[in-house]
Amino acid sequence: MASEYGKNPSLSYNKYLRVPELLDLQSTLSEPTSHDEQLFIIIHQTYELWFKQILHEIDATIKWLDEGRPFRVNHSLKAVTSIEKVMVSQIHILETMAQIGFLEFRDRLNPASGFQSMQFRELEFVSGQKDEKILEFFKFDDFAYARLKARFEAPGLDDAFWALLGREGFAVSSHEERVAAIVEILTHPEKYANLFNMQDLLIEHDENISLWRYHHVLMVERMLGMKRGTGGSEGVGYLMSTLTKRFFPEMWEARTHLKTKPIAE
Ligand code: HEM
Repeated sequence: MASEYGKNPSLSYNKYLRVPELLDLQSTLSEPTSHDEQLFIIIHQTYELWFKQILHEIDATIKWLDEGRPFRVNHSLKAVTSIEKVMVSQIHILETMAQIGFLEFRDRLNPASGFQSMQFRELEFVSGQKDEKILEFFKFDDFAYARLKARFEAPGLDDAFWALLGREGFAVSSHEERVAAIVEILTHPEKYANLFNMQDLLIEHDENISLWRYHHVLMVERMLGMKRGTGGSEGVGYLMSTLTKRFFPEMWEARTHLKTKPIAE
């Protein structure tokens, strides 16, 4: 391993990871510079990098679902859910920011907002939460619009999963059939071991993004109370309205219909 780097003596840790460029990407707007603005920027940039990695894993997952390779699918989904757990806990670092310190630079951000995070919207779209109104919102940003439109039109993680179940012999044309397919898998975990683990990881992905939404809205309320968002929404009230979003409603509903079975079965 070490010899790999030995072959290229001009390479170093800082060069490979482009650390000097990375350290140059935190441009504060406040004058004089507000102490907490660097934390605010670094947290957001870190999220964008994790979004990039999650999208990379989900794109691979869709390919492996299409190819019918459950081991690779579950391996990638495990990476997705592990990153998401870090994303959820990371929100709390922002709560160390003094509210009054945030107000020192908040006005300078206007009208920028997390609402405009292209990669968060890509994550929603690719997971099955496609919203034409959100796509239209990006119409004035050519780069983001092109990426989101491609995600909007392409089959997502949800489509690839249901297509795999279809190829495994389950009826999956309607909402009810999909619920019944999940009930069948949950009823016989050993018989459908790979599919059982897959649905478990997919509902965990769904749960993690919901947990992120909950932690984010509570952090926002703790920071801003009922102030309006810099993106123009009413703030906490709007964010509360997003808490019921689900990528796989059929999976959640299946739990309601699950019944006990004889132990000997
Ligand atoms: C002090 C820190 C933060 C505050 C006060 C805050 C506040 C808000 C508010 C008020 C909204 C509603 C839209 C608006 O009108 O602006 C929003 C949306 C959003 N924020 Fe944050 N935010 C913070 C940190 C973050 C971080 C670190 C991320 C990570 C990427 C993030 C990502 C998002 C996303 C993705 C939305 C859109 C949610 C949706 O529409 O479902 N925010 N934020």
